[in-house]
Amino acid sequence: MQRDWVLYRDLDRVLITKDEISQAVAKLAAQLQKDYEGKDLMCVCILKGAVLFFTDLLRELDLPLTIDFMAISSYGSSTKTSGVVRILKDLDHDVLGKDVLVIEDIVDSGLTLSYIKQTLTQRGAKSVRLATLLDKPERRKNDLKVDYACFIIPNEFVVGYGLDYAEKYRNLPEVGVLDPKIYT
Ligand code: IMP
Ligand code: MG
Repeated sequence: MQRDWVLYRDLDRVLITKDEISQAVAKLAAQLQKDYEGKDLMCVCILKGAVLFFTDLLRELDLPLTIDFMAISSYGSSTKTSGVVRILKDLDHDVLGKDVLVIEDIVDSGLTLSYIKQTLTQRGAKSVRLATLLDKPERRKNDLKVDYACFIIPNEFVVGYGLDYAEKYRNLPEVGVLDPKIYT
């Protein structure tokens, strides 16, 4: 049983269980299946946090899509946003004329995704929509519109299912609130 894992000892509590995640992923996939039928879909995974969400979601999509990856710096190893957005790894493919779906782990201030959306739009994507596993709307610093969000969560620092603290906890199969004693 994974709940015995040592990683769970650093959590205050589990926020979203494995079952809740897989149900939400299936529901989102069904919606995307409808919305992207007949379109030239390119799914962009924002590394590294979105990796687990991205691969689980892709497995449920019966669409002739392509994939690509982008890495952005925003956090370092602290739990507060730096406000500085920088491309660490750019896409390998051109987005011109593509219907791009950007897949992210969490939207917090919204700075990262608004920067990505603006960049891909300027490069000539036909459409750019945003899908996120988690949304923390209380923390938003701009008017970013998130097109698809699986879970709205409170303003607490979470880890697991791809999300990290100082690069750890990404392999937890659930999303949990990190015990503040770990970072204070
Ligand atoms: P934003 O630009 O402030 O929206 O930041 C988004 C990025 O910050 C995400 O892709 C995460 O990497 C990171 N982040 C924000 N909140 C959390 C959290 O609660 N846990 C782990 N990473 C987070
Ligand atoms: Mg991220």
